[in-house]
Amino acid sequence: MSDLAGLKVVVAGLGPMGRDISRVFDRAGADVRVVDVSPEVTEAGLGKIRAEAESAGEAVSSISAATLAEAVPDADVFLEAVVEDMDVKRVLLAEVAALGRDELLVASNTSSLSVGEMGKAFGDPGRVVGMHFFNPATKMRLVEVIVGGGTSEAVAERARELAEALGKTAVVCRDSPNFVVNRVCRPLYYEAQLLVTQGVPAGVVDAAASGGLGHPMGPLTLLDFTGLHTHLGSSETALREFGDPRYRPIPLARSLVRSGFTGRAAGRGFYDYGTEKPRAAIARLRREPGSEGADVRVIAAGPDARAFDLPATTGGRTITLYRCHGGPGEGDVAAVRKLAGSGEVVVDSSDGRWLDVLPAGVGWLRLHRAPAGDLFAEIVRDDVAKVAPTPAATAVVDAVGATSVEVPALPGLVVDRLAYCMVNEAAGLVEEGTASAGDVDVALTLGMNHPRGPFETLQLAGAPAVYEALRSMADLTGDPRYRPAQLLRRQAAGARP
Ligand SMILES: NC(=O)c1ccc[n+]([C@@H]2O[C@H](COP(=O)([O-])OP(=O)(O)OC[C@H]3O[C@@H](n4cnc5c(N)ncnc54)[C@H](O)[C@@H]3O)[C@@H](O)[C@H]2O)c1
Repeated sequence: MSDLAGLKVVVAGLGPMGRDISRVFDRAGADVRVVDVSPEVTEAGLGKIRAEAESAGEAVSSISAATLAEAVPDADVFLEAVVEDMDVKRVLLAEVAALGRDELLVASNTSSLSVGEMGKAFGDPGRVVGMHFFNPATKMRLVEVIVGGGTSEAVAERARELAEALGKTAVVCRDSPNFVVNRVCRPLYYEAQLLVTQGVPAGVVDAAASGGLGHPMGPLTLLDFTGLHTHLGSSETALREFGDPRYRPIPLARSLVRSGFTGRAAGRGFYDYGTEKPRAAIARLRREPGSEGADVRVIAAGPDARAFDLPATTGGRTITLYRCHGGPGEGDVAAVRKLAGSGEVVVDSSDGRWLDVLPAGVGWLRLHRAPAGDLFAEIVRDDVAKVAPTPAATAVVDAVGATSVEVPALPGLVVDRLAYCMVNEAAGLVEEGTASAGDVDVALTLGMNHPRGPFETLQLAGAPAVYEALRSMADLTGDPRYRPAQLLRRQAAGARP
């Protein structure tokens, strides 16, 4: 690639991000000069860049060490990837402002700080823009282009073009805490942790996220990988910046961090790596389809009978799967009772209100079709509420060939709770004008490798169903975390016949 041939780029800060970003510009043909805190540290960083490129089978063509005074005066682009500390960035930007040309484009790879504030520190906010690369920047295709309060349109557009010239996909986002990907994933992490505090094993949460939503890595495995201290820090920032109690960190994260259990690197976080690694815990808790469904014919009934096609089943034992993804209305409870009077019935719903009305002997599960097409089920087992999986529930899961986990009777169960809380956050973000729905979906699929973006999930489930599910969670818990975005409420109203 030589899309950026002749472009003079300065990268400051040779941590993992600055090193990878330098290589990405180098690959695209730019002339890259790198700077760290001293000539010695810069040389060491450049040495690492060469070694990392070599171990990836690449050669570095045009990266050299420099000082700010040498590199900035004739540079076209200055990109900072120094420590995530506004004071450090502020001092650096003032120095660059004193050295650079009037045309210099200044980009920051910050993952959480205000681009507008950096623009002010630079002294010419129009020229400062966020270019948030994802780790590892040599592989991840997404760049969030952050438009600060004072960023000029031309500079935002130039940053977008630069990202595309690097072979990346850019999404544009207004300067707002956590930008897009980390913001939409915040409730995913919060709900995952809350589920653990509510008694759900970490392996069940992670199995549900990968089995039901197709996430390549469950949220708790991911938090352990990135470090709970980092997550806790960004959670505290989110709470402070938004001033909304729904962003308050989960006490469990704080207590784990205080005890030094910060995740995989520390040997313990949500998982205890000395005892059982996430993959083994997930495999132990996930049930593969067995033989209980060999002679079973599953008949779908209820308002969501046609939610998605079930595999054809044949057999002498008939079980009715009453699919009612929303809350149970009086008619649903009466229908389930009637069906239970003459045969075996299993309710398919994640709505926590079924706990109050589920007739004795009726099974309870929630069946999902994951993005890759596989079926995944959450089977409700709640020893406290005395809900046991019925033989019919197991038989249905086996007959349709679903993998499954057992979950307690909590509102939204696990999969819908995780998915819909992300949809809600994404809807709030779009409503306030931070990014477009299309860009949010692109960001989540490229930045997190989620097979579906939140708006695709919304489209599939339908706004009325997602809105109802969130309202039910909010009613049953009283927690503002589940307060539906007004945009969802309006979309739900607009979608009703
Ligand atoms: N690590 C990630 O996963 C990730 C992902 C996206 C964005 N980011 C952001 O990218 C930036 C860098 O992240 P990192 O993880 O590579 O950081 P890091 O803390 O590992 O490395 C920062 C580097 O900057 C250098 N530095 C500090 N002050 C400097 C100055 N005044 N001039 C030049 N160099 C200076 C340090 O010596 C160090 O080499 C941060 O803003 C971070 O929030 C990080």
